[in-house]
Amino acid sequence: MNSSADLYQQACAVIPGGVNSPVRAWHSVGGIPLHIESGSGSRITTVDGTELIDFCGSWGPLILGHAHPRVVAAVAKVAEKGLTFGATTPAEIKIARLLTDMIPYLDMVRLVNSGTEAAMTAIRLARGFTGRSKIVKFDGCYHGHSDSMLVSAGSGLLTGGIASSAGVSDATTREVLVAPYNDIEAVNELFAKHGHDIAAIIVEPVAGNMGLVKPEKGFLECLREITNSHQSLLVFDEVITGFRLAPTSYGAICGITPDLTCLGKIIGGGMPIGAVGGTKAIMEQLAPLGSVYQAGTLSGNPVAVAAGIETLEILRETKPYDEIQKKAQAIGAGLSSNGLHCCKLGGIFTFFFSKNPVSNLTDAKLCDTKKYAEFFHFMISKGFYLPPSQFEVAFVSAAHSDHEISLFVNATKDFQTPV
Ligand SMILES: Cc1ncc(COP(=O)(O)O)c(C=O)c1O
Repeated sequence: MNSSADLYQQACAVIPGGVNSPVRAWHSVGGIPLHIESGSGSRITTVDGTELIDFCGSWGPLILGHAHPRVVAAVAKVAEKGLTFGATTPAEIKIARLLTDMIPYLDMVRLVNSGTEAAMTAIRLARGFTGRSKIVKFDGCYHGHSDSMLVSAGSGLLTGGIASSAGVSDATTREVLVAPYNDIEAVNELFAKHGHDIAAIIVEPVAGNMGLVKPEKGFLECLREITNSHQSLLVFDEVITGFRLAPTSYGAICGITPDLTCLGKIIGGGMPIGAVGGTKAIMEQLAPLGSVYQAGTLSGNPVAVAAGIETLEILRETKPYDEIQKKAQAIGAGLSSNGLHCCKLGGIFTFFFSKNPVSNLTDAKLCDTKKYAEFFHFMISKGFYLPPSQFEVAFVSAAHSDHEISLFVNATKDFQTPV
């Protein structure tokens, strides 16, 4: 068997950077990325034969843990009958009904293949529906890698963002206005200047891509009010939060109804999927009924849909959320007594290596990322796998046992106090 180091070298020869998604390359923590052989429940096993308790959970889909037997059985059963047809299957109706039942304000959903596609479709739909071109997004929120979503704030807050990737045209960048997360005054200024031309605000209602950053009191309410008063749409990107904190969306939990919702990760139970959902009036603007084009050869893929349905049904039946939250609380309590600062919500958590609370990207950037890198490698040496970046969130799954949580907390005791 090849070691992770051997495989990384081989991968680098045929895959740019050796990875199919950049953060997997461990550039922000250093070292050679581990290559994974298998996963079961809360644990992964690397090709080097090391077993690790996993708090990354494939970046979010695995709320039930790795290879949940019911999910795997559902996938295997469907796969035997054919992998794709490019025509509608009954299971697509079933998952659409599940999603619209579990998130009561969704009338309709369109299935896509990733969170990126969900956000890209939501943006196009918002533009098509309103006949406007500009989008407001928040610095540090990630909505996948479509061109317009790869824009982050520079100092040009009121004039348009700065592309954070080469290859994004100036014309695209000019259409995206960027505000700091949790800064309602900045949003008001953008609307005062461009309100008549803003198609939508897109926001992670709980931000999970600069570490975990919660919305401050009133922030989401203000976004709802200002979009209503300017006839713009409010898009909640719930690719991380959907079904993560309860068997529904964060919007339903906090009582704020967005016009469009982006879903992904958990709704595919580990298979590639995404969805955009909203009211009938907006969703019917999508082709073939409306003039907003969107399509996908593998959209609604039977295998992905089977994994998603099984996952959602298990979540609805077993409601593991209180248990998951208790475990995350134990981590938070244990870590603060060990001198580490943990921000958590439900089963989502981040250790911020910072003296100050983090409420936006500017705060997040003050974190000691070198210390996080040390912590990451220290925890691997103790048998725990965390996200390989200070700015990604970690997850407790239903598969983590109380014993594993105490092992984790105990392991952090030996790490020197961070800041
Ligand atoms: C909030 C959010 N939106 C969209 C995406 C993009 O999803 P995907 O990686 O499935 O394209 C992500 C990915 O992490 C995400 O966290």
